[in-house]
Amino acid sequence: MSNIDLIKKINDLKKEKKAIVLAHTYQNVEIDEVADYSGDSLYLSRMAAKTDADIIVFAGVYFMAETAKILSPQKTVLLPNLSAGCAMADKINLEQLRTFKSQYPGVPVVCYVNSTAAVKSEADICCTSANAVEVVKSLNAKEVLFVPDQHLGSYVESQLTDVKVITYPGFCPIHHDITVEDVLEKKSVYPAAKVYVHPECRKNVTQLADFVGSTTAIIRNIKNSSDSEFIIVTEKGVVERLERDCPDKKFILINQKAICDSMKLLHLEDILHALEYNKYEITIDEQIAKKALSSIDNMIKIGA
Ligand code: 13P
Ligand code: SF4
Repeated sequence: MSNIDLIKKINDLKKEKKAIVLAHTYQNVEIDEVADYSGDSLYLSRMAAKTDADIIVFAGVYFMAETAKILSPQKTVLLPNLSAGCAMADKINLEQLRTFKSQYPGVPVVCYVNSTAAVKSEADICCTSANAVEVVKSLNAKEVLFVPDQHLGSYVESQLTDVKVITYPGFCPIHHDITVEDVLEKKSVYPAAKVYVHPECRKNVTQLADFVGSTTAIIRNIKNSSDSEFIIVTEKGVVERLERDCPDKKFILINQKAICDSMKLLHLEDILHALEYNKYEITIDEQIAKKALSSIDNMIKIGA
């Protein structure tokens, strides 16, 4: 079937089943053709909480679909490929978090949404890359524990005075593997280009940035920028969307390894299949979902 036919079939089925498609910025760019909302984790969580659709098809990775289900437990949430995991979320489980917490009694736990529902259920508050600084600030604490991303945690600490952010040693392999040398090499070829970095990168990489932000913040800021050349220090999907939306600007992907394989598993056929056969439905233990919802709600309440 051609993409045009696939898109029409998906859109017809969406109407018939009262379904919406949420697509993360790292998805294959053609998924946006059938997405009702496309953006970063924070934006998609907000849309999942708000929608009056009966079915949410999540074009993203497992923890994102799980978060949508926690926020909208009465809705059917579908992840079209259950192998779409997140290497960062896999870095910590409930038992590891409990052991980490036991070393710092009484210190509040901030949990990056790139984590399992069980880990969220044991945290005080969640955050995304878009609001992590505001979330930590809102706690008014001298010390916080931050899981699982050591780099986002240390970025947050660098943005605040008087808060010690104690990080768990997790990371996203795609962002962790990007080095200072990668940035300097691109800068030497494109000296006028501005450097836009996702905060999952190492501290010495974010220190070289002209702008640090979530995927949506990067795209929004570049659309409003009067500059014309940009080195993009995050996953390839961001570059693909920028090239589509800003044809007059030049984008340089930091390196060809900056691709999240899990995010690339989905194609239009998979979205159609998910809608046709209600595949694959996300379910979460009720007790865990209830506790995880309180951590996510605490984040949403701060409004950042
Ligand atoms: P965003 O918060 O920008 O959606 O990033 C999520 C993510 O998985 C980055 O690797
Ligand atoms: Fe997880 Fe990294 Fe992929 Fe984001 S890019 S979904 S953190 S593995």
